[in-house]
Amino acid sequence: MSEEFEAVVIGGGPGGYVCAIRLAQLGIKTACIESRETLGGTCLNVGCIPSKNLLNFSDNFHKAKHFSNLGIEIGEVKLNLAKMMKNKDKAVTILTKGIEFLFKKNKITHLKGKGSILDKNTVTVTDNSGKKTNYKAKNIVIGTGSVPATLEGIKIDEKTIVSSTGALSFEKVPKELIVIGGGYIGLELSSVWKKLGSNVIVVEFLDHIIPGMDKDISTEFLKILHKQGINFKLDSKVTAVTVVKNKAIVDFTNKKTAKRERIECDKVLVAVGRKSNFDEDISKLNIKLDSQRKIEVNNRFETSIKNIYAIGDVINKGPMLAHKAEDEGIAVAEIIAGQAGHVNYNIIPAVIYTTPEVASVGKTEQQLIKEKINYKTGKFPFMANSRAKAINESDGFVKILVDQKTDKVLGAHIIGPHAGEMIAELAVAMEFGASSEDIARTCHAHPTFSEAIKEAALAVDKRTIHS
Ligand code: NAI
Repeated sequence: MSEEFEAVVIGGGPGGYVCAIRLAQLGIKTACIESRETLGGTCLNVGCIPSKNLLNFSDNFHKAKHFSNLGIEIGEVKLNLAKMMKNKDKAVTILTKGIEFLFKKNKITHLKGKGSILDKNTVTVTDNSGKKTNYKAKNIVIGTGSVPATLEGIKIDEKTIVSSTGALSFEKVPKELIVIGGGYIGLELSSVWKKLGSNVIVVEFLDHIIPGMDKDISTEFLKILHKQGINFKLDSKVTAVTVVKNKAIVDFTNKKTAKRERIECDKVLVAVGRKSNFDEDISKLNIKLDSQRKIEVNNRFETSIKNIYAIGDVINKGPMLAHKAEDEGIAVAEIIAGQAGHVNYNIIPAVIYTTPEVASVGKTEQQLIKEKINYKTGKFPFMANSRAKAINESDGFVKILVDQKTDKVLGAHIIGPHAGEMIAELAVAMEFGASSEDIARTCHAHPTFSEAIKEAALAVDKRTIHS
């Protein structure tokens, strides 16, 4: 038996590494087990960070191609995809190394290898060579994240049929790309490859994209993406994907008309959600799972075994988002240290980093209707926002939902420039129990995109100034 720890965190993603840092800050002797070579989990290595890099630079490429319309003559704009990918990999390396540094700074033991739970107080680390080492742990935190889901009969080979991981590293711009699933991953990566030159078709099972987001946002987003040249096949069920000589043939059926279609393409991205990632030791220990095979936790993030906690994508609470996992990591560390850790699941922002961005916090209009909550709506278009007009980025709007009686903000939804940054104002407002009147009476700098938030707050009582 090797070293003993007060807490061992399994998984070094945004949930796990943040949890380990907070535990160490609270004076708890902590180890974090990670099976990847680098820390940071899916988010830093093959998720949020590389995708944001590519979203940004594919958009720059696209914009540069149209610079002459703005009076900037730069000649022919050419893509060097290998260099763009190298730059992306560099961003990932810098950030993952940054976490290594934070581990050293906080004196966290980084155990490299695959972690599993032997019994309620013992974890096993299996390193690359297959060597197993056991460690005693007073508390164990499972933060092993999620892996891409696929459809029955469709095998992801990461060459022709790829998950988000493969779609972040194509060596050539696919001429034809079919994306199965019009959710976060499908739309962000559609946007990247469309801007780099692919013909993109998104095949979505439902009659709308980004299920779960406010319907007004979903409708507007579809319109904008369509305008950008992305094609959509809604209401469509994929029945088969066959690979023939490096090409893929996708068969799908329209659920309403029963019309069958077959399209050949170079690459298929399967983006139909993610499933929690843990292996057999969890089932062997009889840790309780829900019907979706997610780990059940109570308000203290305890699993059915008291000193074994779980956070992030593996649990049956909240959306599969990195920042939700981070907040749970902090909360569980504080709970282990005897403090009152807490996550407010009503106020977790969500962002899609396309151009324009989409951002949302709190209830959607559809949820309010379903929950029979009386509400008022304030909406303001970026078309009437001076900053957005000044820089030709006036697609989209801000929508604020408030309680009809108290005026308290219940939800906010933005599609437009820098929506992902702007949503923070509304999340803070909601945490402080603000009303639309509070937001409307807060001075917003001019000219800024955030004035659209103030105007949307004014719109609740039909007193906008600029529309
Ligand atoms: P998702 O749940 O966002 O979207 C999956 C889409 O696939 C849905 O629209 C669904 O209706 C559709 N779908 C399901 N079965 C289908 C079928 N048979 N045929 C056609 N369409 C089908 O899942 P996604 O995009 O894979 O993302 C996974 C997770 O990663 C999400 O929970 C998301 O929160 C997270 N994520 C967050 C990002 C962000 O914060 N910007 C970026 C990327 C991922």
